[in-house]
Amino acid sequence: MTQTPGDGDLLYAVDPLVIEATAAGLVVSSPRLPTRLHVQPHIADLLLAARDGVTPDGGGVAAPGAVAHLARAGFLVPKEDTAAEPGIPWDAWGVTAWSLHNQTRDTPFVGSRSDDPAHLRDVLEEIASRPRPSAVRAPRTDRILLLPRVRAAMDVPYRDVLERRRTHRDFADEPIGLDTFSDMLHYCFAPLRFADAGPMGVLQLRAAASGGARHETEAFVFVLHVTGVRPGLYHYDPVRHGLEPVAPDAGRDTLEHLTYGQGFFRHAAFGVLTAAVSHRMSWKYRHPRAYKLLLQNVGHVAQVFSMTATALGLGASLTGAIRDTEADALLGLDSPAEFTTFALACGVPLRGPDGLPLSIRTPQEPPATF
Ligand SMILES: Cc1cc2nc3c(=O)[nH]c(=O)nc-3n(C[C@H](O)[C@H](O)[C@H](O)COP(=O)(O)O)c2cc1C
Repeated sequence: MTQTPGDGDLLYAVDPLVIEATAAGLVVSSPRLPTRLHVQPHIADLLLAARDGVTPDGGGVAAPGAVAHLARAGFLVPKEDTAAEPGIPWDAWGVTAWSLHNQTRDTPFVGSRSDDPAHLRDVLEEIASRPRPSAVRAPRTDRILLLPRVRAAMDVPYRDVLERRRTHRDFADEPIGLDTFSDMLHYCFAPLRFADAGPMGVLQLRAAASGGARHETEAFVFVLHVTGVRPGLYHYDPVRHGLEPVAPDAGRDTLEHLTYGQGFFRHAAFGVLTAAVSHRMSWKYRHPRAYKLLLQNVGHVAQVFSMTATALGLGASLTGAIRDTEADALLGLDSPAEFTTFALACGVPLRGPDGLPLSIRTPQEPPATF
């Protein structure tokens, strides 16, 4: 007499199970596990069937050896192990974020001083064997509005810059001067020096640090109220230090729409959408962790923007809440290789009597908890 297997005898697919199907084949993974497996279609079938449980002999779908292998790698587990909660924060952020997080942990760093020099040479040779992307974006037009190269005085003590930097969301309806505007773009987005990095090419060195000095962040500038510059959307060419026209009609309403109407751009003097030219990064860093690095890079740029605005007596705010698809199209980005990353606003800040942004309320009472 054949016996029906009980729940206790069955193995279940790890939950969540992620299956990537591409022309190159099938890859199964789970953010619970360190391993990614390249599998044949019948193994993916087995794992899908195993959401309802499979017997250790493979139930006719796969050989018992394959089941044992999947069990050792953690892809097939007893019933009780599938019930575990993902826990904070992955229950809120979901499988996509959890998978990215898990698959980008503990990525080996190639190029540390303890690396085997022969291995390092091989890695560098492999990178350099592929066509190197330019460190700057090729001009899309011959038209360029060159900006002044004078430098405004910045005599605010650094401690004051640190203490005064706040997010300013409310701006006076006043222009900012051309020289100040020019300085903001220069210090936030232009190279200040260059470095010869051998097979990696000549690199930009900007005020903000950038992984591998790849400096994949480009600035698209919405001139709103800058003395002497016609309003509109421009691309900032950091080497020529000038503005290339992109869309003369794009203005406050466009930016407000693209940033879900938060109000920063109603009176700001100018706005910036930053965009990543991902190829500049992915040419050198061929691992999903580079996506994290790219976002960390633009965070550095945004902080320089905020600090420089403060040093120049201006205010700045930023948001990542962007209608990405519309923004990418407006900027004329080569999607999906190039994509919008941040929205920055800058202008003459409105301050309360305490000198702070209008949006800040200083606590008047001790709170019950802090
Ligand atoms: C990555 C990032 C995203 C932000 N997004 C928004 C936003 O969408 N809207 C907003 O009003 N402020 C945004 N801010 C500003 C923060 O709310 C602000 O930094 C915080 O309230 C602390 O105030 P402070 O910058 O004056 O220190 C963002 C800040 C960062 C760093």
